[in-house]
Amino acid sequence: MGKLIITRDTKKADVKVTLTKKTSPKLPIGFKAKKGEFGIVGANINVGTKGIKNGEDWRELGVKITKYLKTLEVKTVFMQLNYDKQDCKALLEGLHLGDYRFDKYKSQKNKSKLEEIMVDIACKDKGVDVDLHSLISNARLAAESTNITRDWVNTTPEDANSHTIEQAVRDMFANTVVKVDAYGEDNLKRFGMNGHLAVNRASRHEAKTIKLTYSPEYFKEHHVFVGKGLTYDSGGLSIKPGNYMTTMKADKAGAMTLMGMMNYIAHNGAASKITCYLGIAENMIDGSAYKPDDVLTMMNGKTVHVKNTDAEGRIVLFDNICLAQKENKDISTLHTLATLTGAAVYSFGDEVAALVGFNDKLKSRVQKAGDKAGEIYMDAAFHKYMLDGVRDSLADLSNTGTPNMGCQKAGLFLTNAVKKKNKNKYVHWDIAGPAFVDTAFGHNPSGGTGFGVRTLINFVNNRK
Ligand code: BES
Ligand code: MN
Ligand code: ZN
Repeated sequence: MGKLIITRDTKKADVKVTLTKKTSPKLPIGFKAKKGEFGIVGANINVGTKGIKNGEDWRELGVKITKYLKTLEVKTVFMQLNYDKQDCKALLEGLHLGDYRFDKYKSQKNKSKLEEIMVDIACKDKGVDVDLHSLISNARLAAESTNITRDWVNTTPEDANSHTIEQAVRDMFANTVVKVDAYGEDNLKRFGMNGHLAVNRASRHEAKTIKLTYSPEYFKEHHVFVGKGLTYDSGGLSIKPGNYMTTMKADKAGAMTLMGMMNYIAHNGAASKITCYLGIAENMIDGSAYKPDDVLTMMNGKTVHVKNTDAEGRIVLFDNICLAQKENKDISTLHTLATLTGAAVYSFGDEVAALVGFNDKLKSRVQKAGDKAGEIYMDAAFHKYMLDGVRDSLADLSNTGTPNMGCQKAGLFLTNAVKKKNKNKYVHWDIAGPAFVDTAFGHNPSGGTGFGVRTLINFVNNRK
């Protein structure tokens, strides 16, 4: 994680960053400032802001500014901001997000000089002065929480297994308002979570469900989240082609996104009650591996015909959805977050997450929370011809379903774990595209992006 701090100090800085709307700010000859381009004039860096329209533009600009400053021999920076509150916040978030670099596995760590950006902010929200201290600290906390998720998604399966993740979560939330419980295999057996256990059976690490709870005294809504935490997905006996296997450390992103959100909540609270289930498993191969053609009896008694062991995430999530509903009777909204299907990537691309579920209003609520975070969520709608698509002739359900609409079929499979009374409270987020990317986009770096963390923070803090 970066060491950059943003303060309101007034000591002398090494350079000043000036944001300017002019098309051609005073720059060295031959250099034209476009959106986000830079030119140094003495100790002043002019940054063109022409064309900046929304929060995400400001966030991206913040990322660019930090990345640029880190290439210079500069320790302290001064910047004046005089914008709308949301724009200031997005810019500050971007400044921190741009400080991210994952060098855990590099013997030579990056040694940038940049330490501090001092900001002078004059900003109002609907005519009222903004609490600048919390504006600055919330932006930092949101970015740091995103960076925690990035770190865990980028960590290799040898270093991020169910044991090390549990330890990290316990350390992270020790002495905070977030309570940690972990269910090991004994408990999963007792609950009848045979699907989750089957997927993990060939792993040398224990299957676990890690539960995180934030329970304030007063709340209106209780949001319950289930995250896919496949620390590695080889495909199992329906083994993946080699080139598809090299990014599968990222198959824990759903669970790690929930961890990032809870880091924010631990330090800043939330307007609602929140319960998270991180379903941790590893899809591997040995003599005990689960097989194509097995039939699994899930926690709610439904049977699943395993047509393909690579459709493992939905099996793990299914049991954890059952557990979440058994333990929580006051659910307002129920979510699954998962890198669930390649089909979501084919349909919506690397930059966009897909939403699946019966409730359009709930989906648009997630989309709105996403807009504010600079993240795009698209509706992967059902239609009447596909609603029988996960039925099976041998068992109740098939874990692959009929061909086509793979992202929706995976979501449809999951709705079979959702009780009738919760069907309209349920939405599934398929983050297979944006959670881990080859090529940086927007404010996101390549590799683990932390996509979803700031959307979740917005979601749990906004009332309907
Ligand atoms: N973890 C994968 C999905 C995935 C693919 C995530 C690409 C990120 C990038 C998931 O477990 C999987 O393998 N899904 C299969 C399902 C199929 C066998 C029905 C898929 O999408 O191919
Ligand atoms: Mn898989
Ligand atoms: Zn998977």
